[in-house]
Amino acid sequence: MANTIEANTLRDWLESDEPVVVLDVRSDEDRAQWAIPGSVHINAYEALKTGQPGALASAMLPTDRPVITVCNAGRVSQAAAAILADRGFDARTLVGGMKAWSLAWNTADIPLEDSTVQVVQVRRTGKGCLSYLVGSVDEAAVIDPSLPADIYVDLAHRRGWTIRYVLETHIHADHLSRARALATRTGARLLLPVQQRARFPFTAVADGDRIHIGAATLAAAHTPGHTGESTSFVLNDAAAVFTGDTLFTNGVGRPDLHADAEAARERARALFHSLVRLRGLPSTTLVLPAHASDPIAFDGQPIAASCGDVASWLSAWLASESGFVERVTSTLPPTPPNFVRIVDLNESGEIPDIDPTDLEAGANRCAVR
Ligand SMILES: [Fe+2]
Repeated sequence: MANTIEANTLRDWLESDEPVVVLDVRSDEDRAQWAIPGSVHINAYEALKTGQPGALASAMLPTDRPVITVCNAGRVSQAAAAILADRGFDARTLVGGMKAWSLAWNTADIPLEDSTVQVVQVRRTGKGCLSYLVGSVDEAAVIDPSLPADIYVDLAHRRGWTIRYVLETHIHADHLSRARALATRTGARLLLPVQQRARFPFTAVADGDRIHIGAATLAAAHTPGHTGESTSFVLNDAAAVFTGDTLFTNGVGRPDLHADAEAARERARALFHSLVRLRGLPSTTLVLPAHASDPIAFDGQPIAASCGDVASWLSAWLASESGFVERVTSTLPPTPPNFVRIVDLNESGEIPDIDPTDLEAGANRCAVR
């Protein structure tokens, strides 16, 4: 039996820069979907599965640090760890593989000129889901939580904040929302954009509504397109804008989930106007999206871009409405895995007693780039 390491421990090691090699033994195809930042890849999956001797013969690995072997679910990687252990390595296998890794997270502080408020970006590194803790004085709001409640409660506690509000920018299709659970756990108010989708109690937020957190303010801006209810939140005097899946640092939200071809075009037209509106923010406003397009390194570097930087590519996209609609309805990536079931659960607000990573594993596919 190979030695093991839990995803949480590996997360802590990477966050604290412990010397470690992560060896990904999956197929090229699986590797291309998503990976652990900084990991080494040797496609040994078939060889290991079929017990071929010398499966990792070509592996050139350092001997002065633990080697963590990783596969999809943590079984084939056991064989890899056993082979390496026989060769004298301190080899351990990641329990639960990439599926367990999908809950690993890290944080980055968002640099803001405005000293009355702090924003922490909380990232699910594998899936690239970005959530935010917005704190001011002794209060905080969480935007788009995608991780278990305790993680946000603990992060807020360490900064002396009490979570008063939990906000969602839209009904998510790529991960199970943890917003309702977090609001229940903390007694915070659950704020969702005005909509007819969610089938559980919430406080509806409409365009222009303002939410006060300590000395900070979030102003809601309805930015439909990715979904009908999609809403962005502008922080204070446009220091930053939380754009959900409407606008990313290098792409825009796909308009086609749960929509036929005509509905997708309709949404694309709405998205065009929402993006024109967001582009009108000051060039210094920081765009803080709900997704990154690649696995997020443990480097503390925020996934963010100024509106000015975004405008450098977005303006070409927004040259004409018809061109934009054509662009975002013709070059769509495959739909996110299990999105119909995930959306249904997020609308019902009931997370069943299942392992959420069974539904969520895999890369994010909410963007058009
Ligand atoms: Fe989304």
